[in-house]
Amino acid sequence: MSRILVVGASGTVGSELSRLLAAAGHAVVKTTSRKPTSPDQVQVDLVTGAGLKAAFEGVDRAFFLAPPGHANQEALLAPLIDEAKARGLRKVVLMTAMGADADEAAPMRKAERRLEATGLPFNIIRPNWFMQNFNTFWIHGIQTAGQIFLPVGQAKGSFIDARDIAAVAAKLLTGDGLANRAFDLTGPRALDHAEVAAILTQATGKAIGFTDITPEAMLQGLLGAGLPKDYAEFLVLILGYFKAGYAERTTDAVQQITGQAPRSIEQYAQDYRSAWV
Ligand SMILES: NC(=O)c1ccc[n+]([C@@H]2O[C@H](COP(=O)([O-])OP(=O)(O)OC[C@H]3O[C@@H](n4cnc5c(N)ncnc54)[C@H](OP(=O)(O)O)[C@@H]3O)[C@@H](O)[C@H]2O)c1
Repeated sequence: MSRILVVGASGTVGSELSRLLAAAGHAVVKTTSRKPTSPDQVQVDLVTGAGLKAAFEGVDRAFFLAPPGHANQEALLAPLIDEAKARGLRKVVLMTAMGADADEAAPMRKAERRLEATGLPFNIIRPNWFMQNFNTFWIHGIQTAGQIFLPVGQAKGSFIDARDIAAVAAKLLTGDGLANRAFDLTGPRALDHAEVAAILTQATGKAIGFTDITPEAMLQGLLGAGLPKDYAEFLVLILGYFKAGYAERTTDAVQQITGQAPRSIEQYAQDYRSAWV
């Protein structure tokens, strides 16, 4: 059994990943930037680097992500990757995002390259847009106006359930078979946001629609919600990639790695129904 460091362990992917790893009998070291409340947590602040080195004590495998809210993901991930290299970890899985490899100058791509250059056994997973955004980031419009407000027109996305991302990460972290490969992770099919709204309506019995907004309105909304300007601009930029059709592709990576088909958005809507009613 391994001792596995999970960065972002209280988050959407990290909490499910930690649960899967612990259920399989591994010791999980969960990072949090807050004050730990249980013995399996360690305090790590990726912005300041506080607690980072100590978190690797006795660890042989690790899962890394850059927390949302920061546009310079490489600055946050580089110290983790460098410490993994110094410790000679047996496997590192880094989660970036689908499309991260499209621009060599992008901070997420630089982090991917840094990990590749360590010589450690690694995997990079690049998920598409999460289904769980509808019960987290985009929930305000649904709760207050019954609308998903996004600047994406009729473009389609092959949304993925974060639980499937966690299942992939768990397999890659604990197996050595697929080392040194990158995988784009998607859900089973592509839908536009009006179709997603109809599925949420069906699951909840509550009328939920989709309103296409301008990138400028999106930016103002994000700034109004208190997001840092560079991160708000980053989000609007990548929503533009969604609108341009780059999120439509599907891959069979979830099935290939886990042996299970990725969850449908209907399943997701059913399981998360209580978030919207
Ligand atoms: N949402 C999408 O559609 C999507 C699509 C593709 C890729 N991604 C990528 O997925 C990642 C986010 O994953 P997620 O949604 O599972 O995360 P999440 O639910 O937003 O959780 C973020 C985690 O980061 C931790 N965190 C926040 N600030 C921190 C800091 N300063 N130092 C250390 N940890 C900190 C939080 O823990 P504490 O509060 O306990 O500190 C939390 O566990 C991002 O890298 C994003 O680019 C997202």
